[in-house]
Amino acid sequence: MAEVRIPAFAKINLRLEILGKRPDGYHELRTIFQTVSLHDDLQLRRSKRVGVSLRVEGNAALSGEPVEKNLVYRAVAAVRAELKDEGGVEIALKKKIPAGRGLGGGSSDAAAAMLGYLQLTKKKVAAERLMEIGASLGADVPFFLQGGRALGIGRGDEIYPLPDIEAKSVLIVSPADIHVPTPDAYRWLNAPELTKTAENSKLWKFCASSWSVQGTGLWNDFEGAVFQHYPRLDSIKQDLLRRGATEALLAGSGSAVIGVFPSPAKARRAAVGFPLDETFVCETVSRAKYNRLMRGRSV
Ligand code: C5P
Repeated sequence: MAEVRIPAFAKINLRLEILGKRPDGYHELRTIFQTVSLHDDLQLRRSKRVGVSLRVEGNAALSGEPVEKNLVYRAVAAVRAELKDEGGVEIALKKKIPAGRGLGGGSSDAAAAMLGYLQLTKKKVAAERLMEIGASLGADVPFFLQGGRALGIGRGDEIYPLPDIEAKSVLIVSPADIHVPTPDAYRWLNAPELTKTAENSKLWKFCASSWSVQGTGLWNDFEGAVFQHYPRLDSIKQDLLRRGATEALLAGSGSAVIGVFPSPAKARRAAVGFPLDETFVCETVSRAKYNRLMRGRSV
């Protein structure tokens, strides 16, 4: 195969609970991930030049960062090491998912690069080993190897697929001026006080409560601390609800805020109310669709 094109979808967390800080410094989570149709685009091509070359364009393009630090570069390097493959590859990444907004763009790019590289080289890595490599790159990467709706526990890297739900329209509001570094958001939580084992709902109840037939159940433990630092994000959430969202929530550790709408048209109408911010009208992407699209297109 001469070339592979593959999308890298954003995610939202339908539920996100932080149970406490772990001895390794990470936080013990239980979360429900859901892929949405906002996506970056990756193109991978065989090259006569030895090694990996990476070009990044668009939203949050590389700004003076050494290419070796980019998660896409590291993901491809890790798969190549696993395969002991040294052939040249050129990668072009077109960014649309804004960075530092809790939408998982970097992790998704990494997972898509791994899957795309395997398609390009027609090679295989066992699914469990791929998940392990993904987890070594970032806690959200294993989820993006699966997509759809899934339960994440541990650091968020232990993934259990959940049945797909009916597609929903989502409006993402990404504040132009607020970028929340994930480690800061975790620090603001003061996690030892957050250990709440006694109150933890049973996992089946936790899974069933996100977008069950009854509808509601979105939840994010980051909202208290992040809204305290950035009250404007709470205002965006309230605006989304006023403008017709059936539910609204901070995306991951922020700073994007998402609203769920009864139709794409209603989401588009609501988007007009956020002239200062970047907005994206999208829909949830099921695992079935994710798998189909992630197989990529050969040229
Ligand atoms: O794994 P990843 O690089 O995406 O995580 C970024 C940062 O978020 C970590 O360095 C850590 O500070 C924080 N984090 C955490 N607990 C998690 C996931 C991430 O404390 N479960």
